[in-house]
Amino acid sequence: MAMSVNVSSSGIINSGFSRSSALSEPKVSQIGSLRLLDRVHVAPVSLNLAEKRSSSVKPLNAEPKTKDSMIPLAATMVAEIAEEVEVVEIEDFEELAKKLENASPLEIMDKALEKYGNDIAIAFSGAEDVALIEYAHLTGRPFRVFSLDTGRLNPETYRFFDAVEKHYGIRIEYMFPDSVEVQGLVRSKGLFSFYEDGHQECCRVRKVRPLRRALKGLKAWITGQRKDQSPGTRSEIPVVQVDPVFEGLDGGVGSLVKWNPVANVEGNDVWNFLRTMDVPVNTLHAAGYISIGCEPCTKAVLPGQHEREGRWWWEDAKAKECGLHKGNVKENTADANVNGESKSAVADIFKSENLVTLSRQGIENLMKLENRKEPWIVVLYAPWCPFCQAMEASYDELADKLAGSGIKVAKFRADGDQKDFAKQELQLGSFPTILVFPKNSSRPIKYPSEKRDVDSLTSFLNLVR
Ligand code: ADX
Ligand code: SF4
Repeated sequence: MAMSVNVSSSGIINSGFSRSSALSEPKVSQIGSLRLLDRVHVAPVSLNLAEKRSSSVKPLNAEPKTKDSMIPLAATMVAEIAEEVEVVEIEDFEELAKKLENASPLEIMDKALEKYGNDIAIAFSGAEDVALIEYAHLTGRPFRVFSLDTGRLNPETYRFFDAVEKHYGIRIEYMFPDSVEVQGLVRSKGLFSFYEDGHQECCRVRKVRPLRRALKGLKAWITGQRKDQSPGTRSEIPVVQVDPVFEGLDGGVGSLVKWNPVANVEGNDVWNFLRTMDVPVNTLHAAGYISIGCEPCTKAVLPGQHEREGRWWWEDAKAKECGLHKGNVKENTADANVNGESKSAVADIFKSENLVTLSRQGIENLMKLENRKEPWIVVLYAPWCPFCQAMEASYDELADKLAGSGIKVAKFRADGDQKDFAKQELQLGSFPTILVFPKNSSRPIKYPSEKRDVDSLTSFLNLVR
């Protein structure tokens, strides 16, 4: 839905949330407390796309042309606000996301840079999202790049940052955590507290707060999130959205726009692009790393493992958004309130007619059978859980594929009243938990992977049945 707000002839947004701060201080584009106007990368014109826009390639401290990126000085602002006021439409980003859904990453990047100029920056993690920098370079427009240096990155990642800076002739705008906060955390809890009590606290200090500071200097940011990175939390990310969590330069809800130009691109295609364009890559990838974060919290994955399994591997899948993108985690992902009405009202999932629905009695009987004649695979699920929803199609397909094969495919709803039982007796950690009850054995074996496609489940079944 489009909203309208008042905008002065200078293009200053004159809505409730932005006006007071706009009047009180000059809005110089910056990340954190550093003025970064001299860090300009003007990429060479290397595509037709760039050719037609080469006139807009300009130093970032030149006066911007569009209303969107207008950053006037306070002195001129006050006078101009008092003058004539016109009404303009604020962009409907849901509509824009729909329009751009089938656009290429290059088109999306170009649109983002065109719209926001010096008020947008690429968030670069030091992994394969270097593709974003390549796309920005290809547009021929000036662009900015920032990275959160947590102090715990791999040496290879620092070397890679350096290689990227040299390759593109840019300076990455590093954001560092607050030293007093890091000191407080490490002195009280040690250097590896995240293995004991979860990564959230350390990530908050080393990543999320520095990110918040960076974003306060921007109107938009660009991330390398992709739908295929995490079926549970990223399967619905749009190519552009109003940031659901963080605030931008103007302050207040809705003051920051988040662009995800590679949302619809698959990992393989990103890699094809990087190879084709001969872009420098983090040497950790050659050692089996896919998704790369901090050194103590990232490990290589084996062939066929899902990339997220190499991140915070000691934690449940649902916790694996470190806070940078926590807007992806829907409220009802949390286990809390499973007895609540809203949860029980959610429609059931896994509806293949070849699936057996187990009652509490049914699964207890299955557990007691010492000499099972046929193996069973059972998913412990909650219909409201997005990770369960994400595996619905593949699990239904598995049931159809195995119909009549002698292997039984079943489901047991394990939230609400059944949850304590499932935790104590069925190894339930988080939803979904998948168990294989092998033939001739009483003990179920927990499926240890987050890859829940038909092939991965079938090959596990073949190994343990
Ligand atoms: S994370 O939330 O789990 O750490 P992930 O590694 O998947 O994120 O990266 C997704 C996107 O988040 C990256 O493409 C990048 O845009 C942004 N991002 C992640 N880590 C950083 C970082 N250290 N600095 C800047 N941006 C980052
Ligand atoms: Fe700390 Fe690990 Fe988070 Fe890095 S990824 S900030 S080391 S918890």
